[in-house]
Amino acid sequence: MKIAIVGLGYVGLPLSLQFARSGLTVLGLDIDPVKVDMLSKGTSYIKHIPPEAVEEMLQGGRFTASTDFSRVREVEAVILCVPTPLNKNREPDISYVTRTGEEIAPHLRKGTLVVLESTTYPGTTEGELLEVLEAGSGLKAGEDFHLAFSPEREDPANPESKVASIPKVVGGYTPACLERAVKLYSFAIKTVVPVSSCRVAEAAKLLENIFRGVNIALVNELKLVYGAMGIDIWEVIEAAKTKPFGFMAFYPGPGLGGHCIPIDPFYLTWKAREFQRSTRFIELAGEINTSMPLHVVDRVGDALNSVRKSINGSRVLVLGLAYKPNVDDERESPSYHIMELLSQRGAEVAYHDPYVPVIRPTREHPHWAGAHSVAWDRETIAEFDAVVVATAHDCINFHELADWAQCIVDTRNALAAVHTEPGKIWKA
Ligand SMILES: NC(=O)c1ccc[n+]([C@@H]2O[C@H](COP(=O)([O-])OP(=O)(O)OC[C@H]3O[C@@H](n4cnc5c(N)ncnc54)[C@H](O)[C@@H]3O)[C@@H](O)[C@H]2O)c1
Repeated sequence: MKIAIVGLGYVGLPLSLQFARSGLTVLGLDIDPVKVDMLSKGTSYIKHIPPEAVEEMLQGGRFTASTDFSRVREVEAVILCVPTPLNKNREPDISYVTRTGEEIAPHLRKGTLVVLESTTYPGTTEGELLEVLEAGSGLKAGEDFHLAFSPEREDPANPESKVASIPKVVGGYTPACLERAVKLYSFAIKTVVPVSSCRVAEAAKLLENIFRGVNIALVNELKLVYGAMGIDIWEVIEAAKTKPFGFMAFYPGPGLGGHCIPIDPFYLTWKAREFQRSTRFIELAGEINTSMPLHVVDRVGDALNSVRKSINGSRVLVLGLAYKPNVDDERESPSYHIMELLSQRGAEVAYHDPYVPVIRPTREHPHWAGAHSVAWDRETIAEFDAVVVATAHDCINFHELADWAQCIVDTRNALAAVHTEPGKIWKA
């Protein structure tokens, strides 16, 4: 069986390799010729996907990458893993999905299965996507071609989290669509969870991410409340999590990052308005989580103040640009907000992240483009008036940091086990 996967990013590439490993022939499609070129040469542009994994599938003839969307006519199923960001007014931007639908529609053959994996609001698959597919192909969904939604559950850099072993929710436009989609995923995924519609599958993905966003906001708020009482939230969480039922640990931090948690909940907020409903939990969680970088910068101010320095004129290092440990993904990272706020207050800001050696151009933070990660050595680190630990990569030696740095603001409890002189480490 030959399938196409459109969008070879953090979701599409590992999924392609998993299907190829399971014996299917996979055509990976992307609009980015650089990615296609790298994959065709057996290299990888994602840190936790080794080039050998790509090379092995290429050699076996089970994976090819291309920018030619007309090749969709060669396949029995097409899976879409393209971005679903928010626009500058924080409204859903599903143009990548509809554009991909328009691109593939003219090449769809009768009987093909189309599955959307991109996170989105309920109704996208059987609404906007169905419309462009039918209009561009002249075929009818549920009669001439199959249509389904199956949300991705990717946990980048978690070695326990393998695509094949994460249960996959699938909803179909018709019972026959569902059957086809379940059959497809069963080739590569151990547990497939069918649900009654595309809308339920779309809603399930949003629930998962809203659940995280709201619970992270809760511990972020409690961090401030307990902090004011002189109680360490990290110790509280360690104690609470010994409860064997009814509790799940979430951890505070400098704010939300990544392509999912800060964005996806607002897809629902936008859609809910159409039904005259408001999403108060999502809004409140968003408010608390987005205020965290400001809290961190306030703590930097307190820390510097304690040694008679001001943010204005100080040199501050942000340690960790990636939004979570051990990944090279810095999309939506709160580190950018912290850097922004510090430089607005007159600090001279630099960063260190072994996984992000140079900042690529982005629409949101154009002026950081081209900045390089500073060296990791005593001389360089000791020159900064303060270091903000924003992401605790495993490869960072926090004992060295405690030894070299003048003052540390720790948003991740990364220095919990490190002993140093009093007043040097500030939790934030
Ligand atoms: N990254 C995660 O951990 C994660 C987890 C679960 C769900 N998701 C969801 O999966 C979707 C994809 O996310 P991602 O992290 O893989 O994004 P990504 O930016 O890493 O990858 C998207 C890929 O799509 C390509 N692309 C963009 N427009 C295209 C088009 N019109 N046609 C073909 N290719 C196109 C890009 O070049 C890129 O390679 C999003 O909806 C996201 O919310 C992501």
